[in-house]
Amino acid sequence: MQSPISIIPGQSQGQPITPALAPDSVAAVLRFHQSLPDYQPTPLVALPELAQKLGVTAVFVKDESRRFGLNAFKSLGASYAMATVIADYLHLDAGHLNYRDLITPAVRQKLKDLVFITATDGNHGKGVAWAAALFGCRAMVLMPRGTQPCRAEAIRAINATRVEITDLNYDDAVRRAAKLATENGYLLIQDTALAGYTAIPNAITRGYTTMAAEALAQLGDLGIAKPSHVFLQAGVGSMAGGVLGYLAHYYNHKPPLTTIVEPDTVACLYHSVASGQPVAIGGHPETIMAGLNCGEPNPQTWPILRDYASFFARCPDWVTVLGMQTLAQPEAADPVVISGESGAVGLGLLVALCRDQRLTDLKARLKLDRKATVLLFSTEGDTDPEGYAALVSPPRGIV
Ligand SMILES: Cc1ncc(COP(=O)(O)O)c(C=O)c1O
Repeated sequence: MQSPISIIPGQSQGQPITPALAPDSVAAVLRFHQSLPDYQPTPLVALPELAQKLGVTAVFVKDESRRFGLNAFKSLGASYAMATVIADYLHLDAGHLNYRDLITPAVRQKLKDLVFITATDGNHGKGVAWAAALFGCRAMVLMPRGTQPCRAEAIRAINATRVEITDLNYDDAVRRAAKLATENGYLLIQDTALAGYTAIPNAITRGYTTMAAEALAQLGDLGIAKPSHVFLQAGVGSMAGGVLGYLAHYYNHKPPLTTIVEPDTVACLYHSVASGQPVAIGGHPETIMAGLNCGEPNPQTWPILRDYASFFARCPDWVTVLGMQTLAQPEAADPVVISGESGAVGLGLLVALCRDQRLTDLKARLKLDRKATVLLFSTEGDTDPEGYAALVSPPRGIV
């Protein structure tokens, strides 16, 4: 028998959201991304046939596999945060960052010996390696135990980046990277906050708002002022916090009904909400959702999620496989979206809620009815191509 999905409501404590995620404040982030070579908004894919089958008005998937040719969204955060570090180093105005100003010969000369370091389960490290190459710097990347070698290889292939697969879990790898940074004078670019280390993770979170800004503009072009539902998958919750914080500002403290989605084995945000304070999951949890395999919430974004998310869901791996298969083998005329293990879990949850008779009560609690317009973020493509191919081959699940 399949292990169950479990969903609990958010527990708002009504704290104000940081103004740093307000649309006016992050307009400079979008402008910075637009200044990067090969910038294109990623496609917002409509799935009308699937929407009809699920009994909702519309389903839109923001396809982040197309982000800068890197197969995942994470470069948004890494590139922006690294640019703020460089601006600080060069005494430039971080409020008006433009790629053009960071690549003059004089600047290149000053940047060539900088080394950025990070711990990553894959996609963030790829973003750091890519941005280091763009800025003419170097990068070093630590990865947790159990990392698929192909994910490490994909990072190594960028600018001959130094990559080490450690014997640590993700959270301990983060601490090891912080230690190496202090000992060697490297610049730590971590996507979660540590004691005394908040400016860079906050810049990374701000970097992710570009995804939300693009999606709302794309919906606006289709005449849709507000989606009714958003599903955001989470590891440490920086991405979800950035996107939800932006939506909460944009919609004047009334964001769409948002569900935070995590793997059931490592649902640190779900357990944090259940117990009213941040909870860490230790050990070596297993899930195929490698990008979401993080046991400790980002303390900077956790209050945004607690206060503005409507629901928190724990999902077994079969849910993301259902999402991957649904997007890989679409209904009739719907387009294919290649969505990897950490990208498809929101859609898998939506499909399960709408199609599985045993989940009818949950579907009603989430108000997934004929009036629902659902926005999802497929945050990665086939970042483990062999694993992806094996998982999307028939048979399909509930649909
Ligand atoms: C593909 C993908 N989606 C979502 C996430 C979750 O982001 P966060 O750790 O900020 O919650 C990650 C994190 O690595 C990821 O790689």
